Amino acid sequence: MDQAVGLRSRLKSSPYIPSDIGKSNSCAEGHIPRVISFTSGKGGVGKTNVVANLAFALSRQGKRVLVLDADLGLANIDILLGLAPRYTMRHVFSGEKTLDEILVEGPGGMRIMPASSGVQELADLSESQKLYLLNELEGLRNCIDILIIDTAAGISSNVVYFNLASHERVVIVTPEPTSIADAYALIKILSTKHDIKRFSILVNLAVTEAEAESVFKRLSMVTDRFLGSMSLDYWGLIPHDACIPRAVKKQRVVVDLYPEASSSRRFVELAESICNRNYEDRSDGNIKFFWKNLLQAPGAL
Ligand SMILES: Nc1ncnc2c1ncn2[C@@H]1O[C@H](COP(=O)(O)OP(=O)(O)OP(=O)(O)O)[C@@H](O)[C@H]1O
Ligand SMILES: [Mg+2]
Repeated sequence: MDQAVGLRSRLKSSPYIPSDIGKSNSCAEGHIPRVISFTSGKGGVGKTNVVANLAFALSRQGKRVLVLDADLGLANIDILLGLAPRYTMRHVFSGEKTLDEILVEGPGGMRIMPASSGVQELADLSESQKLYLLNELEGLRNCIDILIIDTAAGISSNVVYFNLASHERVVIVTPEPTSIADAYALIKILSTKHDIKRFSILVNLAVTEAEAESVFKRLSMVTDRFLGSMSLDYWGLIPHDACIPRAVKKQRVVVDLYPEASSSRRFVELAESICNRNYEDRSDGNIKFFWKNLLQAPGAL
């Protein structure tokens, strides 16, 4: 089926209305969800676990959370949460499903958009297809508070693309020198080629607070020295915690399965501080929402 025809027939004007609408009082006309990407230079540093646990903790704290699995080709978060979504963005592009039909509900009420195997096609949509899709996606705008993006690792164009489209970027780094070097490489590309100057740094898998602080200091020193005026906010650490792989094996989030675990307590604190942190929309005034950023970045994928 021609994609434009498919989209036109399927992307009707009925926006997605989640069952928990009204959960948060921030559902207002003109409301702009926060869009936070969790990213890393090196793979396997804990992005998907951080995203799943923070999404769970934020949902428990009354936020309407949508998780976008943007790790192309790898259905990470579904497996981590023991979900088996039948449809992805690809089905939306082909006109087989509407956007609301592909969303799946995860633990704590978070919603997941299984985008992985369809996101690549965003780059190939025509202008009219993008417009139809944008209308549908705009329907989500008033119904979510926080959109969390789990990106792939590295400095590929799609990683850069999702980082550019976000309001806030959290770079996850571990104490391994390779992870610090790769985090620097990612920050360097985003800062020198795309003028992104503000990042949050979350240190995962540190054993002590002192170790995490020293990771942050090393990264700040090197960015200060070679990239000039940058703003790195330290988000603290998620400790190395054997409960995380145990929860992974059971396809549950650690915050739910082992609420007293050291990592669970940190995830809950972090979720609270995300809610309390003053959020200003620093994005381009003409491009108010992530979807517009995403769809209007020409050929960025
Ligand atoms: N704080 C932690 N303590 C102990 N183990 C952890 C911690 N964080 C993550 N892990 C383990 O590290 C592994 C990688 O985690 P995860 O899949 O979340 O990384 P990722 O950055 O999403 O990887 P990828 O780049 O492949 O998407 C998992 O096996 C997980 O159990
Ligand atoms: Mg992952």
